[in-house]
Amino acid sequence: MKKLLIISSTKKSNFDLSIKIKDYLKSNDQVTCEVISLEDFELPLYTPTLEEKFKNGELFPENISKIKELICSSNAMIWCSPEYNGGISPIVTNAIAWISRATKDWKEGFDNKNSLICSSSGGNGRNYVKGFTLQLSYLGSIVFEKSLIKTSSKDIDNTEFTNVLNDFCSNII
Ligand SMILES: Cc1cc2nc3c(=O)[nH]c(=O)nc-3n(C[C@H](O)[C@H](O)[C@H](O)COP(=O)(O)O)c2cc1C
Repeated sequence: MKKLLIISSTKKSNFDLSIKIKDYLKSNDQVTCEVISLEDFELPLYTPTLEEKFKNGELFPENISKIKELICSSNAMIWCSPEYNGGISPIVTNAIAWISRATKDWKEGFDNKNSLICSSSGGNGRNYVKGFTLQLSYLGSIVFEKSLIKTSSKDIDNTEFTNVLNDFCSNII
């Protein structure tokens, strides 16, 4: 049984999409799923100055290690994020920036691990998928060639939803 971490950037429609994915995968005996929302971890905005402050006395926020542990202990990840201004939403890049600076073994969380990129976005969400594919690949993750995108005018086709999730789960290393 593979451990699948579903990471929502928000607590709104991308979280709903995450829960929908988890509910669908309940009947899949290849995986167990956990859903988190990055909003719940309330990380501060990464700045080099704040990082220095943490290094020079104050401890790094505990939630950075918590996210890192969840990522490292999973076999694969599904990322549900909105597109913002033709790119990746800051809450995701902020979380990745913190774990890359505040934890040691964080690279194991991405290296050779399968990722599926999903989105509930206002427009078509494609720029986020392209941008995040580049970032996850740079971090060593194996990004699934298909993605699931819901927009404000178009829901995800049911057959596509089930096919993509079934294919992704059966290909987890
Ligand atoms: C700052 C900001 C920028 C946005 N830029 C885009 C965009 O470039 N493309 C797009 O498809 N939607 C864009 N949207 C709309 C969001 O993708 C959309 O509201 C999404 O559903 C929000 O996800 P949520 O319901 O999980 O919060 C933007 C929203 C915000 C707040």
